Amino acid sequence: MTGGAGALLLFGATGDLAKRMLLPSLFALHAEGLIAPNVAIIGTARSALDDAAYRAIAATALDTHVPADRMDATARATFLDRLHYVPLDASDPAGFAALGDRVGAARNGDLAIFLSTAPQLFEPTIAGLAAAGLTGDNVRIGLEKPLGTDLASSRHINDAVASVFPEQRTFRIDHYLGKETVQNLLALRFANLMFEPLWNAGGIEHVQITVSETVGLEGRIDYFDGSGSLRDMVQNHMLQLLSLVAMEPPAHFDARAVRDEKVKVLRSLRRIDRDTAPSHTVIGQYTKGAVGGVPVPGYVDELGKPSTTETFVALKAHVDNWRWKGVPFYLRTGKRLPTRQSEIIIQFRPVPHSMFAERGSRLHQNKLIIRLQPEEEISLMVMAKEPGLDRDGIRLREVPLDLSLTTAFAGQRRRIAYERLLLDLIEGDPTLFVRRDEVEAQWEWVDAIRDGWTANGMTPKSYPAGTWGPSAAIALTERDGVSWHD
Ligand code: BG6
Repeated sequence: MTGGAGALLLFGATGDLAKRMLLPSLFALHAEGLIAPNVAIIGTARSALDDAAYRAIAATALDTHVPADRMDATARATFLDRLHYVPLDASDPAGFAALGDRVGAARNGDLAIFLSTAPQLFEPTIAGLAAAGLTGDNVRIGLEKPLGTDLASSRHINDAVASVFPEQRTFRIDHYLGKETVQNLLALRFANLMFEPLWNAGGIEHVQITVSETVGLEGRIDYFDGSGSLRDMVQNHMLQLLSLVAMEPPAHFDARAVRDEKVKVLRSLRRIDRDTAPSHTVIGQYTKGAVGGVPVPGYVDELGKPSTTETFVALKAHVDNWRWKGVPFYLRTGKRLPTRQSEIIIQFRPVPHSMFAERGSRLHQNKLIIRLQPEEEISLMVMAKEPGLDRDGIRLREVPLDLSLTTAFAGQRRRIAYERLLLDLIEGDPTLFVRRDEVEAQWEWVDAIRDGWTANGMTPKSYPAGTWGPSAAIALTERDGVSWHD
């Protein structure tokens, strides 16, 4: 940790992320007194606004995105008062001097910068910050995705950042790491004795990670069509989840120890290449259908032009190390699927011998379900005997041992992932941010898959909106005798 920041400088301050997530998160932190009163919050973007006009935009964002039961009129007013705005065209170096002056005057301590801008503005912004003196030992920078579209472009951006900000002051955001249940995965694995002895190829048969969304393009036409689900979701969020499931126990809960273990997993991922892409991956694109009973258009209709971008991807991965030898990790994500559901399923192996078989009872293998969304809950499916005299045989049933975080910690507010990450950025704790070597290992793996798709001429198979992707995604697991947990 470094010293707490005396100012937060927000690039992309009028953008969609700022309105939906960053301003509501900062408001929540402010309302709870978690951001010291002397920390100035300065927004910057291209629009020619003054402080008052920016505060009006922020007020609308809060009124739209902060739930009514969390709104507090006094906190709203004091929060808006602490917002400042400096218009800046980041592609024009001339504007940075004025920004430097404003930030210099407002700042009293470290400076935390949050960059949520179009990727092409990263480099000019970094250069402008350096020219305006907004760099140095007590300045750190948070970077929002997309950080490139492949390994080469990601390296390019990372090099530009590294020329001014050393790695320990570069905070790459993957908002999944700010989610409470994701951190709970660490507590579950490393604060309990009973899971770890079984947490390996001896005890676990396979792992499933599903992040399904009901939304479509959400107006992010240019970005998403140039990205696709593999780069938008798998390269970052899903590989981070996988690495937290698969990593060795870190010796310390700190940035270096945790990230050292994650990167080892990412580097152990078996390459899916030209030979294996067709058998290990499935891509899909939604056509018109209905989600939750509401008719929705197909992807190309939303987009308004033909496209071969995937809105769904399912794949079978392996972590080639001693712990995970032969254990498949099935990953699946997509847009316009039937439900919004993010979960990790740990499927344990069967008991070596069942004495209940001869008494007419079939056992289900234990399963641990870690649900991130829509509710945060963890269930361990175990076998239990149904009450009765068992005169017709013993009846066993699978029942959940539930840890509903909403119930167990009732009364404690569920936070937006960005609250945690913004606070960590302001306070200078990089543990929940992604290190450069992790990002590059992620890209390397994803690039090989995309190369495999191109080399094999693979294009997305269609699936009607509101279904679980192309039927080939079901076949991907069924071939191994595994069903997706829907
Ligand atoms: C973002 C992706 O990183 O994550 C979006 O760009 C996706 O396409 C979003 O919708 C999902 O985040 P969450 O927190 O809603 O699961």
